[in-house]
Amino acid sequence: MWGGRFAMGPDAVMTAINASIGFDRRLAREDIAGSRAHAAMLAAQGIIGPDDAVAIDAGLAQVLAEIESGTFAFSTALEDIHMNVEARLREIVGPAAGRLHTARSRNDQVATDFRLWVRARCDDADAALARLIDALLDQAERGADMVMPGFTHLQVAQPVTWGHHMLAYVEMFARDRGRFADARARMNECPLGAAALAGTSFPLNREATAAALGFDRPTANSIDSVSDRDFAMEFLAAASICAAHLSRLAEELVLWSTAQFRFARLSDRFSTGSSIMPQKRNPDAAELVRAKVGRILGAQVALTVVMKGLPLAYSKDMQEDKEPVFDAADALGLALSAMEGMIRDLEPDGDRLRAAAAAGFSTATDLADWLVRALGMPFRDAHHVTGAAVARAEALGVDLPELPLAELRGLDPRITAEVYAVLGVENSVRSRTSIGGTAPDRVRAAIARWRGRL
Ligand code: ARG
Repeated sequence: MWGGRFAMGPDAVMTAINASIGFDRRLAREDIAGSRAHAAMLAAQGIIGPDDAVAIDAGLAQVLAEIESGTFAFSTALEDIHMNVEARLREIVGPAAGRLHTARSRNDQVATDFRLWVRARCDDADAALARLIDALLDQAERGADMVMPGFTHLQVAQPVTWGHHMLAYVEMFARDRGRFADARARMNECPLGAAALAGTSFPLNREATAAALGFDRPTANSIDSVSDRDFAMEFLAAASICAAHLSRLAEELVLWSTAQFRFARLSDRFSTGSSIMPQKRNPDAAELVRAKVGRILGAQVALTVVMKGLPLAYSKDMQEDKEPVFDAADALGLALSAMEGMIRDLEPDGDRLRAAAAAGFSTATDLADWLVRALGMPFRDAHHVTGAAVARAEALGVDLPELPLAELRGLDPRITAEVYAVLGVENSVRSRTSIGGTAPDRVRAAIARWRGRL
């Protein structure tokens, strides 16, 4: 493509380090869509002839068909997807192919292709998150008043409901959707027409190519157009946060499915056995989802470090942008699908959850709140009295609801038998009716709100 200036071909190592076709072939569809939009615009502007435009378009359609059917012969010597496609186009349509690269550079070409690709992955992530949220809402519905222990510091804190716990993840994944949507909206500008970096002297219609490719508008600055990879960094940032959320839920699935917790059962479809220990049901899918954040965040770090300190505009360093993004997008897609499958099949054990919720003096706060409400005690004093009640219960080897009234009266003689109503876990969760609280009525209303929004 640049033989005019060169007397010698590249060294084998040069070819090896320079070629990106091994991975950027994944941009084939976007590359051809961009070229077709560009050729149509060039023809509409009278920059290339109508016959050449028709030949180029038909030729590009054939190249795409060859790539999709697997008959296309990719060549490392041709370096990247852009030159592979163009070289094949020349074989098919002859010299007219040479007109396609008018008013264009691989710099704006690759920026356009990659934006289109990342934009599609934002859409994939959004759809996968919507499916995961739907699965979580189904779980929330089945367990809207299923009582379970809520933890802080992984120590029993207060009873909550299974539904409320599921809805916490719905909030997180909905924010993730918002981040992908924000990134998508910001990236949806078309670099095509920036050419190498300075724009072009040809009378382009950049609005037309932008619209043909589904972009909202052309990018505003030609230098920025070819040097910006924010869109990929932003996608990876959203993906990293989403992967971190997935890893937290995955960790809970791992914990819950242990013999020690037995809060929930992962289905056979998402578990594996052991070749030596017949009793084992290993949560491999959950463990792998838990791990994916490592490579996804790694991709974000890799790309950010590649971009850091690069002078404007395009530098070849930027060819290193693609592999981390491809890898992270694949990993995220797989993790989201696996998580959706695990959540759909997940079987919470209501009896175990309730028993665990009642253990560990989980309604101590309810006792303290009762002392405040019924006796007018300042909360700090109520906290102290309740602490003493817990210590008595622990010494007697009973839970709070079984602590005899005489014991409670020993701490404050004004305490009546009415206190026992607040010490049961069902009453405890039912009483938490504040906005965003775990009361089953609140949980049902939140589910209905989310269903409406979806
Ligand atoms: N393969 C290159 C990349 O992925 C395409 C752009 C090459 N541009 C250039 N001026 N060498 O970044």
